[in-house]
Amino acid sequence: MSINNKKEQKWGWWFLLPLYPYNRRATIRKEVLKDQIWIFEQPHGLLYAVVPIRMTVIKLEEGGLLVYCPIAPTQECVKLVKELEATHGKIKYIIHSTSSGLEHKIFVPPFARRFPHAEIYCVPSQWTFPLRLPLSWVGFPLHRTKFLPVDWRESPFAKEFEYHILDIDLTQGSFSEVAMYHKSSRTLLVTDTVINVPEKPPEIVQQNPFPLLFHARETARDELMDNEFNRLKGWQRICLFALYFRPSMIDTVSIKQLIIDAINAPNRSRRNYFGLFPFRWLSGWQLSFLAIRNRLLVAPILESLILPQASKKVLNWANLVSLWNFEQIIPAHFDAPIKSNALEFKKAFTFIDKNSTNPYLLYPSGDRQIYLKDANFIQILEKNLIRLGIAKHPNCE
Ligand SMILES: [Fe+2]
Repeated sequence: MSINNKKEQKWGWWFLLPLYPYNRRATIRKEVLKDQIWIFEQPHGLLYAVVPIRMTVIKLEEGGLLVYCPIAPTQECVKLVKELEATHGKIKYIIHSTSSGLEHKIFVPPFARRFPHAEIYCVPSQWTFPLRLPLSWVGFPLHRTKFLPVDWRESPFAKEFEYHILDIDLTQGSFSEVAMYHKSSRTLLVTDTVINVPEKPPEIVQQNPFPLLFHARETARDELMDNEFNRLKGWQRICLFALYFRPSMIDTVSIKQLIIDAINAPNRSRRNYFGLFPFRWLSGWQLSFLAIRNRLLVAPILESLILPQASKKVLNWANLVSLWNFEQIIPAHFDAPIKSNALEFKKAFTFIDKNSTNPYLLYPSGDRQIYLKDANFIQILEKNLIRLGIAKHPNCE
């Protein structure tokens, strides 16, 4: 379902975290399970590397709704939620599912204000930067914001949901995420820990294809041509940027060449960054995309930098999650719902198991080498963060 209405898509608080598409965000709602589970998606990204950001709404047996990982409460989004409320009852619980994902945290207070009857449950170890501020100082409603009990049996929705919290101390803050299991639908909800990169651009990203076409070009001198081939090519490159920041198969151009190309670019609009396009994709870049698409993955930044900070905790958490009998996963980014199961989930985390005899089960022969080459920039980043004392060495656990 989609509504194209500029006023309803306005997002006035965009400047708090200035990510694309800034002050105008489209929302689409999809029913995942009839009269029971819905996902709401908006586009989101940096420098036109645009992927979906998602919240999930689940109907409670007793009536009312549970919201996992809110998105920007634009008029359009709120209207789509209120349509569900009119039929299934009001939102009772809002789950703030992460402590580190600023791109999710930023939407929780404004979303909660639009639904004044809901209680907000946050994962523990919340933090703010640069100053450590209480949640109420960053907009969380004081009298209805609580922390999720560490033991899921003590939560008010324990009859229908189990959960396990992953909480990693990163020195300057923490990485926390709650994985929730909706028992009756056998659905696993996660935020950032696992993803599935789809082959084709998702519907929400295609609503405004400009970022896809921007990245589909070879040089600044190319026209922005809207066709299926360019949308696909642009999407696959966007995925590589979003996951690796600087994939191995791009070169940057010299300043001189950048300016010459910009002067000769057919489109020098502000939207097209005045014709500036500093990348050159090397031939064979598609192999990098093929190595990561259509499989349950832990994002490279988590695999290389964050999760190794507490390998035992991560493994323990992944093992606990794998005890649930889920048949689909709904993450907050990329594809959803993902048809998957506990075995695949466990496999996605074998990289962290030092005792595993085959730690890279998910990567067919050769793909792991491609992955490692692409993740090189993140590994350099990690070394610099350790040197600056911002991150711990993985072996310090
Ligand atoms: Fe995220």
